Amino acid sequence: MLWGYTITIILCALALYIKSEVLGVADLQEKAECADLSNTTWQEFRLQRAKLQIRYLLLTRDNVECAQVFTQESLSKTQPPFYFNASRMSKIIVHGYRAIGSKPSWVMELAQVLLKAEDVNVVIVDWIYGASFAYNLVVERYKEVALQISVLINQLQKRGSKLESFHFIGVSLGAHVAGFVGTLFEGKIGRITALDPAGPMFKRADTFDRLDPSDAKFVDAIHTDSDYFGISIPVGHVDFFLNGGSDQTGCAHSRFASMYSYVICDHMRALHVYISALNGSCALTGLPCTSYEDFLMGQCVDCNVFKGTCPNIGLSENSGITVSPVPKEQKVFLITTSSAPFCAHHILVELEVSPLDKSAEMELTLIKESHKAEKRLRLQTDTTVYRKVLAHPAPLCEIGSITLRNTGARFYRQADIHVRSVCLSQLPRREAPLCVNKFDVRRGAPWSHDFVQVCN
Ligand SMILES: *[C@@H]1O[C@H](CO)[C@@H](O)[C@H](O)[C@H]1NC(C)=O
Ligand SMILES: *[C@@H]1O[C@H](CO)[C@@H](O)[C@H](O)[C@H]1NC(C)=O
Ligand SMILES: *[C@@H]1O[C@H](CO)[C@@H](O)[C@H](O)[C@H]1NC(C)=O
Repeated sequence: MLWGYTITIILCALALYIKSEVLGVADLQEKAECADLSNTTWQEFRLQRAKLQIRYLLLTRDNVECAQVFTQESLSKTQPPFYFNASRMSKIIVHGYRAIGSKPSWVMELAQVLLKAEDVNVVIVDWIYGASFAYNLVVERYKEVALQISVLINQLQKRGSKLESFHFIGVSLGAHVAGFVGTLFEGKIGRITALDPAGPMFKRADTFDRLDPSDAKFVDAIHTDSDYFGISIPVGHVDFFLNGGSDQTGCAHSRFASMYSYVICDHMRALHVYISALNGSCALTGLPCTSYEDFLMGQCVDCNVFKGTCPNIGLSENSGITVSPVPKEQKVFLITTSSAPFCAHHILVELEVSPLDKSAEMELTLIKESHKAEKRLRLQTDTTVYRKVLAHPAPLCEIGSITLRNTGARFYRQADIHVRSVCLSQLPRREAPLCVNKFDVRRGAPWSHDFVQVCN
């Protein structure tokens, strides 16, 4: 009896032991199966500097959280479940230059919003080892990276993928890597989206050596740091220049700001805006114009070069423009807010005043409840018509009131300003403007007008 009891206890303990062991192994395997980007250390960097060691991480809706890793060599030997599905579109994410040991933290976030938006294969190109040299050495190697990726694309074509089903999303230097893959396939890949394509050493490069519209059926680019890390020239069919393309709102531009905000905040803004656009809460629409200055002065109010449809940042085909053939190197401009979801509405203000004796200053405010947008206007004696574009978080049809304040220097007396008309239009302009005519703006007494309107 006692013996049997002991045996029972031993058996139970054994069963528990086995169970926990098996679970432990299973846990371990599950973890080991989820791949992550390489993590370079100084030692490895010194040892491996001769090798590119490109790996690929695959994410699909069947393994959203748990990437599968493969290389060119291992692709032919992949065991099921291998989730790549050749009848679906593929998004190929290519990162750029890396500081040693730093993994691009945004990669998984981008992959996940892509999968949320579309049922695709997301392939992340991990070339962290190759990307972690000094910048000029990395630039020398980017074609080698592109060449290796092209071998992979050939392999995936053998599995049934079509060339036009590949959409490359390249960040910074990664945009030129994608461009060179496109060159190798003579522009037959579907699309390349460049997120602040790298500028240093590329601006004066031949189109063979940098991203250009001939690299894919459609190339769109988002520019946010074109005076520093990004490129200042258009490289796609449609090039979005955010806030003029160089300095972004909410990124500090003083030497006393944090390292991040001083060094790469502008450059990384393209990526954050793109991720936000894919997440789909609001439209980021650009207007074609020759320069940002002209855009801000209300010289560009429609999308007639695209036959009416304006391009949007995001995944819609040809950025939403339907004109054929698609224009090349078309600069489009938009103003964004300083944080996600970054969208703003462009409102054109047209002001006409009676001729002034002295130059004057006026402050204009558009108000929707707690949201205000302000613009200071300098009025000259030789001009009576002023046009300015300002950004507002609300569309024009939700603007509740407009205020004009007669400001200007205190030490000289600024006279009353006789306003002939002030008109507001939302851009791209589709409807007749909203106007208020004939009123005076006295010094010290702001003028204001309430709108009664509905959005349809
Ligand atoms: C990457 O490597 C560095 C240096 O060895 C280490 O400190 C860090 O924790 C590693 N990060 C990850 C996510 O493994
Ligand atoms: C591959 O994708 C196609 C199209 O979405 C779908 O019909 C098919 O079932 C998928 N195949 C597998 C094995 O999941
Ligand atoms: C996407 O939108 C959801 C809400 O719709 C939000 O919770 C999430 O943080 C957003 N993700 C990104 C990456 O912007």
